[in-house]
Amino acid sequence: MSQMELRPGLADVPVAESAISYIDGKRARLEYRGIAVEILARESCFEETAWLLLRGDLPTQRELAEFDYQLRHHRRLKYKLKDLIKCLPETGHPMDALQAAVAAMGMFYPARDVTDAKSNWESAIRLIAKLPTVVAAYHRLRFGDEAIDPRDDLDHAANFYYMLFEREPSPAVRKVLDACLILHAEHTMNASTFSGRVTGSTLADPYTVVSSAIGTLTGPLHGGANEEVLDMLDEIGSIENVRPWLEEAVAKKRKIMGMGHRVYKVKDPRATVLQELAEHVFAETGRPKTYELAMELERVAAGILGPKGIYPNVDFYSGIVYQALGIPRDLFTPIFAVARVAGWLAHWLEQLQNNRIFRPEQIYVGKHDVPYVPLEQRP
Ligand SMILES: CC(C)(COP(=O)(O)OP(=O)(O)OC[C@H]1O[C@@H](n2cnc3c(N)ncnc32)[C@H](O)[C@@H]1OP(=O)(O)O)[C@@H](O)C(=O)NCCC(=O)NCCS
Repeated sequence: MSQMELRPGLADVPVAESAISYIDGKRARLEYRGIAVEILARESCFEETAWLLLRGDLPTQRELAEFDYQLRHHRRLKYKLKDLIKCLPETGHPMDALQAAVAAMGMFYPARDVTDAKSNWESAIRLIAKLPTVVAAYHRLRFGDEAIDPRDDLDHAANFYYMLFEREPSPAVRKVLDACLILHAEHTMNASTFSGRVTGSTLADPYTVVSSAIGTLTGPLHGGANEEVLDMLDEIGSIENVRPWLEEAVAKKRKIMGMGHRVYKVKDPRATVLQELAEHVFAETGRPKTYELAMELERVAAGILGPKGIYPNVDFYSGIVYQALGIPRDLFTPIFAVARVAGWLAHWLEQLQNNRIFRPEQIYVGKHDVPYVPLEQRP
């Protein structure tokens, strides 16, 4: 008879020691390698943050210049990979296209020997550099447009925007997109990171690790939440309807998308800094109606859900920002992946440093000694 205690969702169960990021859910504190994420969102850029996550410290000027050069250099896709993306159904979800393309990338760039540190680093650069190109290419191709080649003279965020829209972003738009990538780059042991670590613990290659993490990110309880926030705000429709809608939703025990978090019991610090940077974009585009609705929902929810420690998480506002940038809803989660790939790879490298294959236990609740009844004797 097993005496093991089951912790559904592995809540509060440590599965690894990690020095990559830290959350204090009561103090609204998130640090990457010890540095507060708000500071990185305001002062850093995605490239520097990715290095910080992967290597543990801020890069020197020379290291950053070389890393940035390498990222720019590896943005292009092989024509066969573009052909593969072209062949995917245009009605599919871009997350599935991204997962398929990343899994296929492992065939173009074999990297099965994960004891080879140089090959691991090259794979990390390739993955970070190419994910935006894959997302933008699938997006363009599914509407019958040509994929736009990356531009070496633009930084990571600006180039991604350019490949989506064939125009350069304004400085405010570039900044908020860059900040979104920083804010989504890492978040301790979330579901996709855990899934990447589990896959990495089998010594699978990095493309398999990342495609497995992408698959896990797809679900609405994880990466898909920001898409659903906009659906929810559409459903609410007007400021006057916010309170009645929320009261009814809570009475029916509906989850409010973009709210609540396993770790944060206060407002997610990423949501706060994102709102601050988004104001610069809204100064150009005008405040979207969805933003006004979301702020009212946050205000009303503070009284109703606040006592349970349920406040907006980063996804409550990120979708609204992406919408203001003209990004379609089904690209929100792929953009999350474009950012989080840095964190996934940092965890993969950390896992490899002291690897043991994940093999948890289960509590068997099934039957025993069941006789096999031959088919002809069954009804
Ligand atoms: C993020 C999330 C999955 C965390 O889940 P969790 O830690 O397992 O928390 P639980 O689902 O067990 O919820 C605990 C309690 O809070 C309530 N709760 C949690 N999130 C809620 C939300 N968004 N809206 C309303 N109630 C919520 C649950 O109903 C539950 O109430 P109960 O104790 O009365 O049954 C959950 O908050 C959620 O589904 N949020 C919406 C999706 C989302 O925004 N995801 C993105 C995360 S970055």
